[in-house]
Amino acid sequence: MDRLPRHIAVIMDGNGRWAEQHGKRHVEGHEAGARSVREIIEGCRELGIEVLTLYAFSTENWKRSKIEVEALFRLMSKYIYREIEEIDKNGIRVGHLGRFAGLPAKAQKDLQYCLDRTRNNTAMQCNVALNYGGRAELVDAAQRLAADARDGRITPEEIDEAAFARYLYRPDCAEVDLLIRSSGEMRISNFLLWQLAYSEIVVDDVFWPDFRKQHLCEAIVAYQNRDRRFGGRK
Ligand code: IPE
Ligand code: IPE
Ligand code: MG
Repeated sequence: MDRLPRHIAVIMDGNGRWAEQHGKRHVEGHEAGARSVREIIEGCRELGIEVLTLYAFSTENWKRSKIEVEALFRLMSKYIYREIEEIDKNGIRVGHLGRFAGLPAKAQKDLQYCLDRTRNNTAMQCNVALNYGGRAELVDAAQRLAADARDGRITPEEIDEAAFARYLYRPDCAEVDLLIRSSGEMRISNFLLWQLAYSEIVVDDVFWPDFRKQHLCEAIVAYQNRDRRFGGRK
């Protein structure tokens, strides 16, 4: 228990394959995935994980059909109103990573409600990456940094890694210890490019709707058996 990751990030993948396996529609796979979201939030809180970041919708996911995209945002709103009471009661502070202004108006409103309502909670930080892309985050950071340089608030010589990280969406969550991806794919899919620099990666074959606390614990045990060297020697 003393070697827990402080920050866990999760690529919640495999809803479509789960639906196919069960002879259901893709959207039903997304619906079924909501139970797993609840499990992982609860599991992380019970273990005392400080930060959990969930990949819910990428900047590339707009390529999907209008029907699927609308269903995903509808499900998100439904999830918020069903779970917010419990999340708030448990002292969880919700954060957002991504391009907020690019979200549908209703999603903006519901997400904002969630952020405002949980703003002062301190038990755990739970970030949702929604309309999030790792490259978009770096570009957005570079734009704001360039504007500050232009306006004389920072000089090129002052830009080091710590200074750059202050321009990320959540500077306080800039280091991920453990990345978990469900459903077997060995890729990052444009998630947290800066923050994953030295993360331990655990890929589980289980489809996201079947992901339970047990899988979270297995991933943490795998993490605890890793030898994190950060480029140095033991
Ligand atoms: C992950 O499940 C959910 C989102 C990307 C929003 P997928 O819909 O990608 O499921 P697969 O990868 O097709 O199985
Ligand atoms: C990554 O899953 C994005 C989310 C889980 C939100 P995708 O299913 O979109 O990723 P690819 O297409 O397999 O890379
Ligand atoms: Mg997928």
